[in-house]
Amino acid sequence: MLKVLLAGLGVRGRHWARVIKGDARADLLAYADPDPRACERACAEFGHRPAFESVEDALNSLDDIDALVLANPPMARENIVRAAASRGLHLLIEKPLALDLDEARRSVEIAETAGVSLMVGLNFRYLDVTKALMGLLADERVGKPAFARFTYERWRDGRRADLNDYPLTMRHPMLWEQSIHHFDLMRYVYGQEPVRISCRAWNPDWSMYAHESNVAALIEFDGGMVVNYHGIWQGNWAVPGFEWRSECSEGIITQREQFSELYYARRDDEKLTPVSLPAHERWITETRALFESFVTHVLDGAALECSGHDHLMSLAMLEACIRSSEQNSAVNVRDIASAMSG
Ligand SMILES: NC(=O)c1ccc[n+]([C@@H]2O[C@H](COP(=O)([O-])OP(=O)(O)OC[C@H]3O[C@@H](n4cnc5c(N)ncnc54)[C@H](O)[C@@H]3O)[C@@H](O)[C@H]2O)c1
Repeated sequence: MLKVLLAGLGVRGRHWARVIKGDARADLLAYADPDPRACERACAEFGHRPAFESVEDALNSLDDIDALVLANPPMARENIVRAAASRGLHLLIEKPLALDLDEARRSVEIAETAGVSLMVGLNFRYLDVTKALMGLLADERVGKPAFARFTYERWRDGRRADLNDYPLTMRHPMLWEQSIHHFDLMRYVYGQEPVRISCRAWNPDWSMYAHESNVAALIEFDGGMVVNYHGIWQGNWAVPGFEWRSECSEGIITQREQFSELYYARRDDEKLTPVSLPAHERWITETRALFESFVTHVLDGAALECSGHDHLMSLAMLEACIRSSEQNSAVNVRDIASAMSG
């Protein structure tokens, strides 16, 4: 059994509590959250466990924890990572690992030096629709991918009670909170690394966010892929829009919903062919698969997926977007990534 401390009991932490509890090889040992109401709610919803104000307090009181699942806001995580790693805990940390590239790199180094694993919560990799999309690419159903359009449109009501509210005041909320998933998916699905990014980030005058909530970017990859990215949190229709359309040498593949709906067509087909996908519970099914991968890694020695080290390149893409938008010019992502590793 993997004995787990769950820290951060907000929107995402409660998904995690369900997933950890539902895993036959994991034991949800204790909670940590500075907000006593969050601890009380977790005890009521997921069962009573020792609850602490901080990860450090939990570590000082419990001595048989194997892993920390950390779902606090992505600010000031470094001390938590250091404390948990020094006690030999394996780490599963929500995206983005940090809001600062140096801090993210230091956290990866802390884990490596302590000899513990650091996985990042990139749950979209574990969707059946993502696996099916990769399957279509792998068997070249419509040939090889050449370029793509990734469109994510939303009027995200950051004041909704069932959503976190810290993005309302942070810098570049769209990039750090949402685009990080999209950029990670592009790297993962195409198996290519980013080379150059031209970006414009902005905030429309009706935005409820303090800083840039919309992003447009042209992303060039080392295998030749070019992705036209449009990621907006402050469009002006409450009904969300999503399309990820890959243009391939003999046709197209298109995903038309964040969690499902995959189709392909050869150039002369009159209609799209749907790909059948298993039933899915949003935020839970794919998080279960992510957690199972973590458990299998720690208990059975399977390869670590979504490593902190791998995540650094996706964070470099965010930084490239920010610099490109500020400088009004294209930015070389590799320069940022190599400055980080140096
Ligand atoms: N992978 C996904 O699909 C997904 C979805 C939503 C959120 N997230 C990520 O999960 C993280 C948390 O987001 P959220 O929506 O749950 O936020 P939230 O604001 O709803 O909850 C955060 C919780 O962390 C607690 N907290 C604050 N500081 C803490 C600390 N030092 N130690 C322990 N707990 C602390 C807060 O009291 C709060 O209860 C973020 O990194 C976010 O990007 C991921």
